[in-house]
Amino acid sequence: MTRQILSQLFDLHQTSMSDTSPPAKLVTGYCEPLSVRAGEQVQWFGSSHAATNGVLDVVRLECGDPTRSGPGFLEHPLRDHPAVDIELTEQPLIPGSFAEVTVPADNPRRVAMRFWFQPTLLKRDGVIASLRSATGAIEITNRGEYLYAQVGSTELLLRDRSLERNRWYFLDLDLDEGRLTATVTAQRSPSPARDLLQAGEDSKEWAVTDVTFDEVLFRLAAGVDGARWDGRIAEPELVLDGDSYRWSFVADMESTSVASENGGADLTLHQLPTRGVTGPHWTGDHQRWSDDPHQWNAIHFHHDDLYDAGWHPTFTMVVPHDAPSGIYCFRYQGDAGTDRVPFFVRPAVDAPHSDVALLMPTCTYMAYANHRMLIEGADFVGARSNLRPEHRYLAEHREVGLSHYEKHPDGSGVMFSSRRRPVLQLRPGADGWNFTPDTDLNAFLTHLEVGHDIVTDEDLHHEGVAAFAPYRVIVTGTHPEYWSTSMLDALEEWQRNGGRLMYLGGNGFYWRVSFSDSWPGAIELRRSEDGVRNWQTGDGESYHAWGGEYGGLWRRNGRSPNQLVGIGFAAQGFERATYFERDPDVLGSRAAWILDGVEEEHIGTSGLGGGAAGQEVDRYDPKLGSPSHAVIVASAVAFGPDMLRTKEEFEGTVAFPTPDPFVRADMVFFETPQGGAVFSVGSISWFGALARNGYDNDVARITENVLRRFLDPMPFEVPAE
Ligand SMILES: [Fe+2]
Repeated sequence: MTRQILSQLFDLHQTSMSDTSPPAKLVTGYCEPLSVRAGEQVQWFGSSHAATNGVLDVVRLECGDPTRSGPGFLEHPLRDHPAVDIELTEQPLIPGSFAEVTVPADNPRRVAMRFWFQPTLLKRDGVIASLRSATGAIEITNRGEYLYAQVGSTELLLRDRSLERNRWYFLDLDLDEGRLTATVTAQRSPSPARDLLQAGEDSKEWAVTDVTFDEVLFRLAAGVDGARWDGRIAEPELVLDGDSYRWSFVADMESTSVASENGGADLTLHQLPTRGVTGPHWTGDHQRWSDDPHQWNAIHFHHDDLYDAGWHPTFTMVVPHDAPSGIYCFRYQGDAGTDRVPFFVRPAVDAPHSDVALLMPTCTYMAYANHRMLIEGADFVGARSNLRPEHRYLAEHREVGLSHYEKHPDGSGVMFSSRRRPVLQLRPGADGWNFTPDTDLNAFLTHLEVGHDIVTDEDLHHEGVAAFAPYRVIVTGTHPEYWSTSMLDALEEWQRNGGRLMYLGGNGFYWRVSFSDSWPGAIELRRSEDGVRNWQTGDGESYHAWGGEYGGLWRRNGRSPNQLVGIGFAAQGFERATYFERDPDVLGSRAAWILDGVEEEHIGTSGLGGGAAGQEVDRYDPKLGSPSHAVIVASAVAFGPDMLRTKEEFEGTVAFPTPDPFVRADMVFFETPQGGAVFSVGSISWFGALARNGYDNDVARITENVLRRFLDPMPFEVPAE
């Protein structure tokens, strides 16, 4: 019988409980920050769609996996931390990026605004720009494909011709003592045919009732009542009598506000609109915005961008100084249901550290935050209807924002993702990917009683190698896919210093992301060039706004995962998993000890989806930088036809050979400088085979053998060539 991994991960829990659907989820929340040290403060932001009473406490989460993939759900109330009664009401989410500035005015006789705009979603009505004062308002809108100005109560069609999606236009709108003139100029495109119906200028003039302005609120991509818009704007200018305010978007791509060119009026950016995108002057001659920023002078707004929910904190706590490092949750239990919001606690700075730390890949959690793949389907997974409440919540509440796995409705990829909002899958048991499986690793380390800490990749990003320095052994999560340059630099340096790394997952170290101090709690991703991906970057938009680095796969940025962990992404398939087969030479090798107590040639023959090798798998490849002295401990090849070679491994449309030599999971061991070493399993499914038979199995034994040897200070010797 074929057991589908996805069915087991996502449907089992619900179907095993009852035939009736669980009640709709009402309570959500998030916390800030996501990672703290003991002794530091963390805040919980809670909301319920229906007013409700409940109790909030804090638990340490040992295992958040309620399915049979793990040892069973287990959490412990935090000692000496009493539960508190909390009445929850609804805190709204108001998505939609926009820009705004307030400018002083003294009833100017003349008001003008000019800007470039590029509509990207004409099937949705929106407000491109607005001016508001206490006594009047002007809005520039698109209703369907047509451009209007709403002046007071009068609506004016600014252009008789329809607008074309994704074309740049320049609007010059001038209101001078009761005369309104509007000129709309279409930017020439590279297509003579498309220009036939669009090119040129449209000018119109009207007599209108005067609008008086005392103080002006000028908004881009937002109306006076909060309507939003999808598209790009460049070079906005506002004229109030003799005062002209112009804003240029060519400098400081990370800023949260843009000063006017002559000062005095800061345009504030809300909900993280996208910078580093091409503007009306992009010629295609350059690809990198820093080569000629003038060509990237635009900001792209989306009506569904959401960076910061901005809720009022519901509860603030200081983590006790002596609280053990671990995965913790704010646990709210009330009439409207239970909701857990995880956060991570490291030891206090001056407290003793363990020798081993579990690395929580929070960039992966952010990248997948509120992903809709199970609701809407993706190229590798069909939409499903039988889902847990957290996923059903996403179907009904688009306002929680998107993940790096979606496109905005205008077709552009979601290049920013944030954790400063409810993230429905970042909850124990909510999703079978990422966080919940990582808690299975936490449970296993707890079971071994070696003493372990928790550290996050965001800690590593901000602190560099210092975040890893206390640890002899780092154990990765199941899918540490998204890495910033500083994270990789720190990991590399820690390895050079003798660190020992256990990579217990698959498709790790794959995409580059970046952070910005201006927008804490968010990451940027550009899915450029290649790779398994749900969208592609736009033309000329492969360089990150944050930091200016070239985005995409690390293997195309000179830093393939093979160089750090010996293996790199090979294939993915979600129908079933399989076993590893012991390498014929391993028992005579330097890595034979890894298999102590493991008799069978086949390793991990059961578990989630049918084996320890599955979902996303990595292979050893010296051409991609795998060290030549690595020992292949075991390999998995007996996959089903659903397991397909990754996209960056073929040039054209070809039929792959059967079996495909590229479709393989390789478990490797090798030594690194200063007595260090690496052990990599190259499979997301490894975690799902750990807990079988009360941890009495070959996968658990191998993992324990490696961990215990890695904890032993005795250096690994440099192997003979
Ligand atoms: Fe992934």
